[in-house]
Formats: sequence, structure tokens, C-alpha cells
Amino acid sequence: MSVDIVVGTQWGDEGKGKIIDILAKNYDYIVRFNGGNNAGHTIKVGDKKFGLHLIPSAVFYPEKFKVIGNGVVIHPETLLEEIKKVEEAGYSTEKLRISERAHIILDWHIMLDGIEAQKKIGTTKRGIGPVYADKATRVTAIRIFDLYDNLKNKVDFISKIKKQVIGSYGQPINFDIDDLYNKLNQFAEKIKPYVVDTQILLNEAIDKKKNILLEGAQGTMLDVDHGTYPYVTSSNIVSGAACIGTGIPPNKINKIIGIAKAYTTRVGEGPFPTELNDENGKKLREQGKEFGTTTNRPRRCGWLDLVVLRYACRINGITELVLTKIDVLDYFEEIIVCTEYKINGKKTTEMPINSEKAEPIYKTFKGWGKADWAKGIPKEAKEYMKFIEKETRIKISILSYGPKRDETLFLK
Ligand code: GDP
Ligand code: IMO
Ligand code: MG
Repeated sequence: MSVDIVVGTQWGDEGKGKIIDILAKNYDYIVRFNGGNNAGHTIKVGDKKFGLHLIPSAVFYPEKFKVIGNGVVIHPETLLEEIKKVEEAGYSTEKLRISERAHIILDWHIMLDGIEAQKKIGTTKRGIGPVYADKATRVTAIRIFDLYDNLKNKVDFISKIKKQVIGSYGQPINFDIDDLYNKLNQFAEKIKPYVVDTQILLNEAIDKKKNILLEGAQGTMLDVDHGTYPYVTSSNIVSGAACIGTGIPPNKINKIIGIAKAYTTRVGEGPFPTELNDENGKKLREQGKEFGTTTNRPRRCGWLDLVVLRYACRINGITELVLTKIDVLDYFEEIIVCTEYKINGKKTTEMPINSEKAEPIYKTFKGWGKADWAKGIPKEAKEYMKFIEKETRIKISILSYGPKRDETLFLK
């Protein structure tokens, strides 16, 4: 029996979806614990591909439970569309389960995401900040449970407040209360078979010695407490959030698997010390097809940052690393990695709060050229990987060299 966590160690899009799809084979329950449809997790099997935003990355396994935990925020239309997409592709969603404690993203959250300070953060405009803010204020939130409990009164009360707030920004109010109420009622009917107390489901599964994989969204540097605040998302992302977002206690957790891209990307604004605004950055974007799964925005690209990775390994308690997209580095004669920062003339190996001032200090490795990864790891790539393991003091257990399932090497 094992309860394991997968988390992103950088700024998201590390390839979590691909790795979860592969690992899911060994688990009975795959559980999302944070974020909402700001996440975009891509999974590919043969010529079939999904870009999933809410349903855990295990849709290719109809027999496994796919659980949306209490820490997730749910946009009704996105969830319904996703269920439809999965079913139309011939995969059953019968084993989907949704926490009655998860919060719901409503029209006003999306409107407010567009007009508040989130603009300068470069959010996904999915209403994530405003819905988590409502969760914290407690007054104007709607949870899945509320869909079945006095919904009309709650919608009436909250929508009046939200109209005033949106009006105070001088913005048009693009929602109708009756429409919204009807829409939520229809949503409630459709998802009713899936809604349960997921905490009970999961803890009973643990008692029955089932295997559970907790699927993180985003990446450590986007964590609202530990990331590059305020250029972060509005939820916790680090492994500790997996317990909060599911109701599984910390003493049940076994492995904490950190996903790291062999270089770094970031979407949206905010500090990114190893960012490359040159030909190499462009090459990483083109070879890595670095365009957002959710918003299709070009991702900012740069070299691997070991200050970030060491920090992520520490605060997540990473027990093993998965290195992804190593194939993208095939196209570089030199592979460069940041080992420490210089801030105001002083060197540091620690992640500072003012990372926008950090100048990276680099170490250069010899490239390996076009590799035939299925046949083995080139000697120069082994050196690069060994250096990452030495610096993080964590073993790389899986190497990913392409988006497909079989483009993967298991190293132990
Ligand atoms: P996630 O948000 O962490 O699940 O990552 P995304 O799915 O948003 O972005 C990762 C992208 O890289 C997707 O398009 C994947 O299909 C792709 N991908 C994953 N692993 C690899 C890999 O090892 N090599 C290459 N070239 N692409 C990969
Ligand atoms: P996955 O799970 C990459 C980024 C946004 C923005 C910031 C805040 O696919 O790795 P938000 O809409 O959450 O308020 O935006 O966070 N962001 C992501 N970047 N991958 C993600 O998820 C992200 N989810 C949010 O681009 O900079
Ligand atoms: Mg993504």
C-alpha cells in the first residue's frame, strides 16, 4: 500500500500529466488536490491525446478512481466539457468522484480576474484568485455541497454583493441571476452521481490498503506561500498541500515525486533568473513546443536553475526526481545550468525572497547531440544528470525523452 504525491518543482508545465499517466498503472486512486482549470496536463497514448484541466490524468484507465479533492476549485462548464470529451473518446467516467467541499468558480470570479491586480500577474483569467479569495473570506463562496442545499438563497445573496463589487470597478455586469441559478441546477443534476465526501472515500481506501497517487497542479515556484509572490497562483502547491487538499493525513504519505524539466519555463509575469531572451530561448521554445496547454501563450524559456530545484526538493521533501524533456536539449552544443545567484554582489545558493534581483551564476556542460534515447543515455547527458543528483542530493528515478508513454526510461 502506498500514498504518493507528484508535484511540479519549477513554474508548472514540467510534464506532470505525462508522468502521472504512466505511474497511474500502479495506483487505484488518482487524486487532484489543488488548483483549478488554470492547470493544463497533457497526456498522450498512441495517437490519442488529452489536455486535461480538472479530471486527474488517468482517463486512459477507466477502472481507476479519479478523484477531484476538496482543495480543487471547479469551473462547472469546464468540468462538464471535460467529462463529455473523455466519454466521447470512448473512456468511461463512471469512476470519477468530486468532493462536496470543493469550491465553485462562478462568472463573477472570471470577471474579477480580468479587472483586478491579476492583470499584471498574467493570470490564466480562469477566476482562480477571486475564487480562492472567496473561500478564505467564507461569506461569498459556493461549494459543491451548496448546489444541493438552499442554492437559490445563496446565489441571490452573493450575486447582489458581486454586482456591487464589479460595478465599483466600472465594469459591465455580464451575468443574469436566473440564468446562473438554472445553470448551476443543471450542473448539480449532472454531477450528482459523482459527488461524495472524498475524505471518507480516500481514508477508507487507505484502510483497505489501496494505492493512491496525489496529482499536483502548477509548480513549487507558483505556490502562494513559497513561490515568487505575488507572481504566483492563489493556492498552495507544495507537497504539504496534498494532505490539506484531500484530507489524507501526513503520516500516510510515502513517496514525494518531484517533476523537473531539464530546462526551465514560466508562463505569465514575474521573476525568472535564468530566462533567455535570445536565440537559445527561442530554440528551447520551438524544440520543446513550449506553448501553454491552457491559454496557448508562448512560455518563457531558460536554462535549468538548481537554486530553484534544490529549494523545491527541500520544501516538498522530494524523495525522487523525474527529469523530463531531456530530448529538447539534444539541439544544443552546450548545456548550461545555474548553480547559484549573485544578489547585490553577494553569492548565494539559497532561494531569496527578492529573486528578481538575482543574477545567475552558470556552469557549462558539453552537449550530446541527437541521441537515440531508447538505446541508452549518452555519456554527456549522464554527466548532466549526475550533477543534478549531486546538487539536489536526490536520485533521478525516471527520465522522459518525449511526450509519449514509451519515450521514458526507468532508472531503478
Ligand atoms: P504539466 O502541466 O506539468 O502536465 O505539463 P504540460 O502538459 O502543460 O506541458 C508539458 C508538455 O510537454 C506537454 O505538451 C507534453 O506532451 C510534453 N512532454 C512531456 N514530457 C515530454 C518529454 O520528455 N519530451 C518532450 N519533447 N515533450 C514532453
Ligand atoms: P500546470 O498544472 C503554468 C500561472 C499563470 C500565472 C500565475 C497565476 O499546467 O503546471 P492563475 O490563473 O493561477 O491565477 O495565474 O500562475 N499558472 C501556471 N503556469 N502551469 C500551470 O499549471 C499554471 N497555473 C497557473 O500563468 O503566471
Ligand atoms: Mg500544464
